[in-house]
Amino acid sequence: MKKKIAVIGAGSWGTALAKLLSDKGNNLLLWAHDPFVARGINVHHRNPIYLSDKDLSPLLLATADIAEAIAEAQVIISALPSHAVREVLSKTKKFIARDQIIVNATKGIEAQSGKLMEELFSEMLPQHPTRHRVFLSGPSFAEEVARGLPTSIVLAGSHQETCRSIQELLRTPFFLTFTSDDVIGVQVGGAMKNVIAIAAGISDGLSLGHNSRAAIITRGLYEMIKVGMALGANPFTFTGLSGLGDLVLTCTTDLSRNHHVGKAIGLGKTLQVARSQTRMVAEGIETAKAVKTIGEKFSITTPLCSATYRILYEGLLPKEAMNELCSLPLREELGSILNRSNIDAEGGRKK
Ligand SMILES: NC(=O)c1ccc[n+]([C@@H]2O[C@H](COP(=O)([O-])OP(=O)(O)OC[C@H]3O[C@@H](n4cnc5c(N)ncnc54)[C@H](O)[C@@H]3O)[C@@H](O)[C@H]2O)c1
Repeated sequence: MKKKIAVIGAGSWGTALAKLLSDKGNNLLLWAHDPFVARGINVHHRNPIYLSDKDLSPLLLATADIAEAIAEAQVIISALPSHAVREVLSKTKKFIARDQIIVNATKGIEAQSGKLMEELFSEMLPQHPTRHRVFLSGPSFAEEVARGLPTSIVLAGSHQETCRSIQELLRTPFFLTFTSDDVIGVQVGGAMKNVIAIAAGISDGLSLGHNSRAAIITRGLYEMIKVGMALGANPFTFTGLSGLGDLVLTCTTDLSRNHHVGKAIGLGKTLQVARSQTRMVAEGIETAKAVKTIGEKFSITTPLCSATYRILYEGLLPKEAMNELCSLPLREELGSILNRSNIDAEGGRKK
């Protein structure tokens, strides 16, 4: 049976997911922050700003009234930038019912609090059961999803039946979904890869070569695993779509906004100028702050993410950062994460 679905956030990702679901015949109501976007979709069946060359199904309607969007939806997909999630949830929590399934498609960690999206949902929606929440992540450029190109993603949740229902909902001949019960790992991977992508972009802007980029991907993966384990993730999750998969995607092409911003900085632009070149969010800029907060809280060293943070916010020059990273003390490759006494039978961190 076709479902009533609300997608919250009419940026590139919200529009791509809404397109996929409405092309499958579901009734879709897309909430746009900007009434101009909602009007454009309803009148012209195109989003006037994001993915503006893609035709949208007549089953996809838009509204700028968030209460209306949520009212009768069985499934609510949140595709907001992380900086807007708290604000939007505080306005909408009174409309969200316990039996509505929420799918989080945001990839980010709240910058001020260092909270993962799951923690933020639990804080803002204390009555909403965690078993009705699913976290979507993995290598998925909105543009390619909207073009119907083959894409694989992961859906994490504490309740496998809920995950499987969303798996069915999203399934198309080109959109392949896997499930996971590692809600923390899937979120950490999806958020931290954006910081590493900025680092890879900086390296490419400096023309440091392919060896450097490969090292950034793998040492970034190591930092991701360390942070993830500290928060209770299964380290093997990071070998999957929301870890290695998304790192490969975002660190190897300029189509990634985070890589793009990093590259501009590597070429000598300021963060302000790099940011102003696109109206689209580059989550890694904010997530770099959150990774710093988490690293300090758990006494975890993340040299790549720290260097990226210092370049973004403390005026460290990219070349100085490179020199610092190349002068780090000699050490074991996978030091702390191979210390098996820290890992329990499921691969998670021992409490
Ligand atoms: N674009 C992709 O390819 C892609 C893929 C997977 C995941 N994501 C994730 O999805 C999330 C959204 O990214 P996007 O690419 O759609 O962003 P985008 O830059 O394309 O669009 C951002 C949207 O957020 C809205 N917005 C901005 N400030 C807001 C506020 N204060 N309140 C409400 N809405 C506000 C804008 O109007 C716009 O509709 C991010 O976490 C991103 O990492 C993006």
